[in-house]
Amino acid sequence: MASQLSILILAAGKGTRMYSDRPKVLHQIGGQSMLSRVIDTALQLKPAFIGAVIGHGREQVKAETHRPVQWIEQVEQLGTGHAVACALPYLPQDGITLVLYGDVPLIDTHTLQAMIAASDNGKNTVLLTDTLDDPAGYGRIVRENNGHIVRIVEEKDALPEEKTICEINTGIMVLPTHKIAEWTSQLKNANAQGEYYLTDVIALSVANHIPVIGVALPQHHLAAGVNNKLQQAELERIFQREQADNLMKSGVTMADPNRFDLRGTLKCGKDVWIDINAVFEGECVLGNRVQIGANCVLKNVQIASDTVIKPFSHLENCVVGNNAQIGPFARLRPDTVLSDNVHIGNFVEVKKSTVKENSKINHLTYIGDSDIGANTNIGAGTITCNYDGVNKFRTEIGDNVFIGSNTLLVAPVKVGNNATTGAGSVITKTCPENELTVARAKQITLSGWVRPVKK
Ligand code: UD1
Ligand code: CA
Repeated sequence: MASQLSILILAAGKGTRMYSDRPKVLHQIGGQSMLSRVIDTALQLKPAFIGAVIGHGREQVKAETHRPVQWIEQVEQLGTGHAVACALPYLPQDGITLVLYGDVPLIDTHTLQAMIAASDNGKNTVLLTDTLDDPAGYGRIVRENNGHIVRIVEEKDALPEEKTICEINTGIMVLPTHKIAEWTSQLKNANAQGEYYLTDVIALSVANHIPVIGVALPQHHLAAGVNNKLQQAELERIFQREQADNLMKSGVTMADPNRFDLRGTLKCGKDVWIDINAVFEGECVLGNRVQIGANCVLKNVQIASDTVIKPFSHLENCVVGNNAQIGPFARLRPDTVLSDNVHIGNFVEVKKSTVKENSKINHLTYIGDSDIGANTNIGAGTITCNYDGVNKFRTEIGDNVFIGSNTLLVAPVKVGNNATTGAGSVITKTCPENELTVARAKQITLSGWVRPVKK
């Protein structure tokens, strides 16, 4: 039987080099904080215990990380070994403990499972190592002639010949849980940084006849840490490219996978096409043959099959039916539900409204708090005046309606089926079915009028 798994995530550091008022682990990759990414990966391993050691900005970290973890406070950051020691009162007694870092956001379950397997239920200590052309800044893995790992030396404490070692410590390790109290109590801070190094437990493990196994990292970025905004941006691009690759492997066509951003989840049907610089946030679902034009931003949207979203459109919390055409330059705001074959054109804003089949709102229009029937045409420049400065009111427009250009619909107001409004009307009362309603000043001509002339 596999032994009980505990996971500790070290996240107490300040992140000085981010030059930010926010704690480092709250900075995001793919629209989600680094810490919550690590926690979500950790939770997939179904640990018996998961704790996060926090220090700098801990109240903010707790408040913004909605995840089921035991928060462990490390008031003073005295080193990674001290951080793990702070967790002792919470850690179970038995099994194995996996140590992760809140600023190493792209670690994957596959690598971690290989480490857990290598620990053989705590018979071994396991280190995740990497081999770098430029190992500067990292702890180096020191091996004996027979190849066994004997200790880790931090860069700042390393002898010149140790600095030439290219195998480095990623920091991620698996320890036999029952040894953690004993080993961390033996750590000393007599080193270049005056810190209690977790890395010193490696030599203690060897002295205790618990072999140390190195698991080699399959790809560098999986254990890459974020210390500054440059590294954050580098990991962001790697992460985004990976998401784009997965979508393309599942059949999505992309104009350029390097100009694609998904900050959430995206489910696509068959033959979906995505042009450059599309940004998807939250949970998005695209049906078959949906096309997303260049520079569109979509957040929490459901778009049914054969619909085309033309360039520069912004859609948020809305549902679009089949075969609809949206944009260019359209804005669909929350609680908008569009049925099949609806057309929304340029500079049209729709908010908290329903539009039924085949209706068209093609130019320069604001539709808010409205219900629009089927086969209705809304003329250019139409505005629903839904707000009196205090309260919002609804506009109801029936089927087969023709709203003339530049109509103002002062809500609450109803327009019956088959009704027409004259261009330029200010509609304040019900427009009866089947009739033409015009509400504008009558046109007059002053014959014989003469233009003034300059004196
Ligand atoms: C550590 C390793 C080093 C390794 C490197 C990989 C040690 C002594 N060294 O060095 O071998 O190559 O990571 O990136 O472990 N933290 C706390 N409390 C503390 C100190 C740190 O929670 O008191 C957290 C930090 O927030 C961070 C992580 O532990 O997430 C690593 O700490 P950091 O000081 O960055 O370690 P490095 O010097 O990079
Ligand atoms: Ca560091």
